[in-house]
Amino acid sequence: MYLKALLGCPLIAATVLGTTLPGKLQPRHYSNDTNGSQVGPIKPKVFLINLFTPEAAVFYNIPEFNLLERNITVPGFSPKFPDAHCTANGDICQLVTGEGEINAAATVSSLVLDRAFDLRSTYFLIAGIAGVNPEVATTASVLFARFEVQVALQYEFDIRDIGSNFSTGYIPYGRKVPGEYPTAIYGTEVFEVNDALRSLAILFAKKAQLNDTAIAQGYRAKYALTAATSGPSVVACDGATSDVYYTGSILSSAFANFTKLITNGTATYCSTAQEDSAILESLLRATKANLVDFSRIIVMRTASNFDRPPPEISAYEHFFYRNSGGFDPSVRNLYLAGREIIGGIGGQWEGTFAKGIKPTNYIGDIFGSIGGTPDFGPYPYFGEA
Ligand SMILES: *[C@@H]1O[C@H](CO)[C@@H](O)[C@H](O)[C@H]1NC(C)=O
Ligand SMILES: *[C@@H]1O[C@H](CO)[C@@H](O)[C@H](O)[C@H]1NC(C)=O
Ligand SMILES: *[C@@H]1O[C@H](CO)[C@@H](O)[C@H](O)[C@H]1NC(C)=O
Ligand SMILES: *[C@@H]1O[C@H](CO)[C@@H](O)[C@H](O)[C@H]1NC(C)=O
Ligand SMILES: *[C@@H]1O[C@H](CO)[C@@H](O)[C@H](O)[C@H]1NC(C)=O
Ligand SMILES: *[C@@H]1O[C@H](CO)[C@@H](O)[C@H](O)[C@H]1NC(C)=O
Ligand SMILES: *[C@@H]1O[C@H](CO)[C@@H](O)[C@H](O)[C@H]1NC(C)=O
Repeated sequence: MYLKALLGCPLIAATVLGTTLPGKLQPRHYSNDTNGSQVGPIKPKVFLINLFTPEAAVFYNIPEFNLLERNITVPGFSPKFPDAHCTANGDICQLVTGEGEINAAATVSSLVLDRAFDLRSTYFLIAGIAGVNPEVATTASVLFARFEVQVALQYEFDIRDIGSNFSTGYIPYGRKVPGEYPTAIYGTEVFEVNDALRSLAILFAKKAQLNDTAIAQGYRAKYALTAATSGPSVVACDGATSDVYYTGSILSSAFANFTKLITNGTATYCSTAQEDSAILESLLRATKANLVDFSRIIVMRTASNFDRPPPEISAYEHFFYRNSGGFDPSVRNLYLAGREIIGGIGGQWEGTFAKGIKPTNYIGDIFGSIGGTPDFGPYPYFGEA
């Protein structure tokens, strides 16, 4: 109210919106790198988005590029990861969000609003590790999503409180039983990204000789599913985001069902992590504000563990006491696949990537916020949220 009243007066509005704000509210059109020199807006070709330290560290001390040549402190980043890191020429940058949906949304929203960067032609490469559905893929695989579903955005009952005729305690908003399309829609349920770009990313990633280990091989052999027992590969399949780090066959099945339901049968539940829907919401809003381009997003996850146990092992035993061996090769494969994608985009910048990869599928959210008509959900009717 106070600001609105002030803005009614042209002279004061100019002062408020101009460059004369005191102290920390100073609009930032340029940033300083760590040696204090002033630099213009950085216009990265690729921005790597990692979620925690092990995923970020595999991109340091590598022959291809040096992300630690320029550090840019971004107001609003995580206290643990206050800087964006870039190559000296600004072509490749990286940030670390911190884990979970809140960290992810807060960090990426801070990035897109920082005038230190011009991100309108930047490709965002989400590069993190994930749980994997053994019906679809295996540990150490590289998974590329077209759909990202916020699977736990539902009512939740403890199964012991709801009655034995329910197969899950998760019930879509506005409904009284599972399996019915929610009628109360928040807007972050589903994101769909550029499938044509995803196909190119997959081609690049397939050039990588993926890492694997004997421990990972030993654990995946316990599953009675071909997708799980085969060696690591590059797979097109969809992502689930949940702040709750769930595990076990029943929750995994419930969220696989929800993924199918919410995308009208199109998506295949495969990777599970805690950030991607949040990142995509921030990038979607930024696209609406013409700050980024939603058609330039790649959602890559490598599989570090299975979302459910193999036969004969309890969920609890599987989760806490068994080592699936997926962590080391999954982190390694982020780098091995990631460098192919980054190199591929950079190498074909002129002529191909600079002008963008035109999507042939719908891209955006369930509301159609950035145009087009969603190929899932109840658009244009959303009921009473
Ligand atoms: C950047 O550095 C210059 C010179 O060192 C300084 O005057 C300016 O206040 C700094 N700007 C920001 C946004 O930190
Ligand atoms: C600061 O770093 C930039 C590259 O980021 C370089 O061009 C510049 O020369 C450096 N300035 C000083 C004073 O070292
Ligand atoms: C950037 O920060 C990293 C630590 O995060 C440090 O190792 C590196 O030297 C810094 N780079 C510059 C140019 O100060
Ligand atoms: C379970 O039974 C209750 C009580 O009869 C009923 O209200 C509910 O809809 C049933 N749930 C399912 C999933 O059929
Ligand atoms: C996987 O990576 C580890 C650690 O970098 C290395 O020791 C091992 O030889 C690699 N294995 C394969 C199959 O690439
Ligand atoms: C998932 O859907 C299948 C098929 O409708 C059903 O049999 C299964 O019980 C569901 N899983 C859960 C946990 O609700
Ligand atoms: C998706 O499924 C819901 C529920 O069955 C339906 O109301 C909606 O029209 C479907 N949307 C599309 C795009 O097919």
